[in-house]
Amino acid sequence: MNWPLQENFLDKKSINSLCNFIKKNKRLTQFKKVKEFENKFSKWNGSKYSVLVNSGSSANLIIIESCKEIYKWKNNDEIIVPSVTWPTTITPVIQAGLKPIFVDVNLKDFSFDYSKLKKVMTKKTRAIFVAHLVGFPADIQKIKKIIGKRKIILLEDCCESQGAKIKGKKVGNFGIGGSFSFYWGHHMSTIEGGMITTNDRKFYSTCLLKRSHGLARELPEKEQKYYKKKYSKNDFKFLFLSSGYNLRSTEINAFLGIMMLKKINQWIKIRNENFKNFINILNKFKDEFLTSYDKGMSSFVLPFLMNDTKKKIKLESYLNKNGIETRPFIAGNLLRQPFLKRFKKTTFNNSDFIEFNAFYIGNNQFINKTRMNRLFKLLKNFYN
Ligand SMILES: Cc1ncc(COP(=O)(O)O)c(C=O)c1O
Repeated sequence: MNWPLQENFLDKKSINSLCNFIKKNKRLTQFKKVKEFENKFSKWNGSKYSVLVNSGSSANLIIIESCKEIYKWKNNDEIIVPSVTWPTTITPVIQAGLKPIFVDVNLKDFSFDYSKLKKVMTKKTRAIFVAHLVGFPADIQKIKKIIGKRKIILLEDCCESQGAKIKGKKVGNFGIGGSFSFYWGHHMSTIEGGMITTNDRKFYSTCLLKRSHGLARELPEKEQKYYKKKYSKNDFKFLFLSSGYNLRSTEINAFLGIMMLKKINQWIKIRNENFKNFINILNKFKDEFLTSYDKGMSSFVLPFLMNDTKKKIKLESYLNKNGIETRPFIAGNLLRQPFLKRFKKTTFNNSDFIEFNAFYIGNNQFINKTRMNRLFKLLKNFYN
């Protein structure tokens, strides 16, 4: 492949720094670097608190479990979720005994079909899990307006849209909690990794507990003091306050994250420039593609959405033959996946459109004008 989805982001300098860090440090499990990365990420994202975990999926799991505990959600309470996203936006909802209520997506910012949201809200609706997909920020203002005075909280899956902004504010600041992924193909990578952002102190503390066995000693010092006193008969070293997991990361991943965070603004700029060029190229083949630009976006990939399914299949295979790696648009219509079929009640036209008429190719800091020109030539050949 001459245009893979992602390429090696670890240059020689970063590898050398990482090796030196490992040689010099005796403790590599979660410790000071994790805290340092969390503080730096909070500052970068404009959030009060951040919690580093071992993946974006783990971040979503902790977000749902923490909310269930804090807000005392009952089994079968309802969480509104999109039918197009990565499966692990949905699976924590099911695993927590809650009920996912699926809503079709729109074909502009790929979040919910906003006109359908109100219809699915019931007395049992507890939260809306918004996914900011492929770099587009969802229309949070619109969602908040629809929620109105109802007691429904917002959660954000920002795994594909790190750095996307709504009116100058970064995603991950509009709900109780936001999740980020630092997996290989994402805006920045720690090899594997994820982050939770929040501006809510109680939610932050609960996430710290859930990340690490429910242990009280994971909490900020002030809270530790409070629980030491409250449970003075227990040995504080092994005092468990919440039903937790072990979803911790390591000092190695945190060290990588701090290095990558220094480069992320430049990389997002390159991604967005590539995306603009991509749109300009697609516009030359009018009536074939349906992609738009959003000035708050932080492009994740370069998506092709085509009116004609057969042409889409042919184009995808043509690009593959010419060394360009492709993927389905996220995971298509999730309700067509075997593990979710039992939730399928009606047909979601836009999700089906994405399933059958869309795919994407990689966008990252390694993509330059030369490659974009090549893509233009390939498209010209294809249409001739
Ligand atoms: C929207 C979305 N949510 C969650 C995840 C899960 O992230 P991870 O792969 O780090 O578990 C992904 C991964 O690609 C994603 O795209």
